[in-house]
Amino acid sequence: MLEQARSLFHGRYTKYPAVYGVAPGRVEVLGNHTDYNGGYVMSAAIDRVTIVAVGKSDSVRCRVFAQQKGVEASFALDAVQRDPHDRWADYVKGVVVELQKAGVPVEPFEAVVTGNVPIGAGVSSSASLEVATAVALLELHGAELSRWDVARLCRRAENEFVGMPCGILDQFSSLFGEEDSILFLDTRTEEHEALPLPAGSFGLILFHSMAQHALVSGDYATRYRECMEATAWFRERLGEHVQLLRDVSWEEFLRWEAQIPEPLRRRARHVISENQRVLDGREALHCGDIARLGELMFASHESSRVDYENSTPELDVLVNLAKQHGAIGARLTGAGWGGATINLVQEAQMEEFALQVAEEYTRRTGIEPGVYRCHIAQGARALRE
Ligand code: GLA
Repeated sequence: MLEQARSLFHGRYTKYPAVYGVAPGRVEVLGNHTDYNGGYVMSAAIDRVTIVAVGKSDSVRCRVFAQQKGVEASFALDAVQRDPHDRWADYVKGVVVELQKAGVPVEPFEAVVTGNVPIGAGVSSSASLEVATAVALLELHGAELSRWDVARLCRRAENEFVGMPCGILDQFSSLFGEEDSILFLDTRTEEHEALPLPAGSFGLILFHSMAQHALVSGDYATRYRECMEATAWFRERLGEHVQLLRDVSWEEFLRWEAQIPEPLRRRARHVISENQRVLDGREALHCGDIARLGELMFASHESSRVDYENSTPELDVLVNLAKQHGAIGARLTGAGWGGATINLVQEAQMEEFALQVAEEYTRRTGIEPGVYRCHIAQGARALRE
């Protein structure tokens, strides 16, 4: 793929790139919509990457060509603006703006974006584009930032420039991925840990439902607002220490459950119980108890479906089929309202499982799902030509 990026770059700009930023997509294993609530997440970087090849330019404008879309965006560094017709380029531009704010003297550049992270499948192609852009431009300008700083910078790009109030899960996972390990993160304290999966015996399969039901960013922002309202409701009753839903314990939730109005009750129940599921999942992995991790994944999906209402009929069909066909665990992954499910499956059953679930899904819905075998891979890196 690097070779492809290299020749694509040469074809467009008649020279070779100086640097490549390579950043993986991710799967969210547990911890759905917990990150912007200061909670816990479990995730993994996967072996599908976005590559941003860059080189300095003699022109005053920056040019970025996206191979998957077949379009080029161009902009001047002193007037970087959003473009509703080129939303993909906002992720690149947002990172450029944040790098400038961080004091990196970004010079005009040319870039080519390529890769194999499926778009719209809930594996965060957007964060992988942000992170690949950031690590490439840092290397190109000989600037250094810690991995945490890069993660935060990319999140700010998405919050402030793109306008999506996401948490840090996606950017963190793309940067901190470790081969064959599931990542645990406490988004409040930034404590994190790589938990090795028992070797060889389990694998991850992603089913892309190919059915997007609503304007995801609108629903996402609504849930974000509801969580902040639920937080304020608890703050009034429990005290100023409640800054995010992370600060409400399950026991406290149960004590107040009858009083809190809907839909805040269900939104809070999802986030607070999901935090506990991530902690239980971490414990399960510490003990090598994969069956327990699987149960928690199914329970997480149920909580998303009923309480957070970010599932879709298609995602529910996929999770039910996964259960029937012997998955250890399955759930929607990422924002929801379409996108994909992640399935934890015994290595020996993977092929048969994927085939059966995909066939049955098509029979029931008339839709052919995207099927991806995900290997857990290392995080982002920059490479020099
Ligand atoms: C999207 C966001 C993440 C996280 C997940 C849901 O992927 O970008 O920050 O909130 O949804 O857990």
